[in-house]
Amino acid sequence: MLVSVADFIGVSIASASRIVSDVSRALARLYPDFVKLQNHTQQEFYNIAGFPRVHGAIDGTHILIQSPNSNIGEEFRNRKGFFSINVQVVCNASLVFQNVVARWPGSTHDATIFNHSDLKNDCEQGVLGNRWLLGDSGYPCKPYLLTPLLNPRTPSEQRYNEAHIKTRNTIER
Ligand SMILES: *[C@@H]1O[C@H](CO)[C@@H](O)[C@H](O)[C@H]1NC(C)=O
Ligand SMILES: *[C@@H]1O[C@H](CO)[C@@H](O)[C@H](O)[C@H]1NC(C)=O
Ligand SMILES: *[C@@H]1O[C@H](CO)[C@@H](O)[C@H](O)[C@H]1NC(C)=O
Repeated sequence: MLVSVADFIGVSIASASRIVSDVSRALARLYPDFVKLQNHTQQEFYNIAGFPRVHGAIDGTHILIQSPNSNIGEEFRNRKGFFSINVQVVCNASLVFQNVVARWPGSTHDATIFNHSDLKNDCEQGVLGNRWLLGDSGYPCKPYLLTPLLNPRTPSEQRYNEAHIKTRNTIER
């Protein structure tokens, strides 16, 4: 790429490389000004089943691919036995994707993908404010990511799980 770009604008490959790097960094610095997590979805999520302060629902989904046909191929075989990319997605209450990570082979666990995502880093930095994501029990329970209770006992716990499931259904859809 650098060879043809350098040739096209008539500079050395080294200069082209520096320019691409400088411009990329300049664009990346603008990220916080232009890329914002949406804020106004809480009410819509609340309307589903009364779950407050929900920013989004998160899950992983396996997107079928052809076998990569190499010695890394097996990494792409998921627990259901087919080759895939495990894609992490967050949606809002209108089922619109808000965040997508599509760079992990099918054998990767949802929790690992989340763990390495910029989204987790943002959450740790408090980008969600007093809001949270809803995820299934494949995710770790965090102040910014609520998961279902495994053994709900009291009526309150059961209501929590019911509201959680109904609201998280957005990402299943
Ligand atoms: C979901 O996101 C889309 C696109 O960002 C936006 O147009 C829509 O209003 C959002 N829905 C809700 C309920 O926030
Ligand atoms: C999350 O990532 C950190 C650093 O990359 C690692 O030390 C930790 O074991 C990971 N945890 C999980 C559950 O993958
Ligand atoms: C988003 O949330 C922050 C704090 O949680 C608040 O100050 C801000 O006004 C909100 N923005 C919108 C568009 O609701």
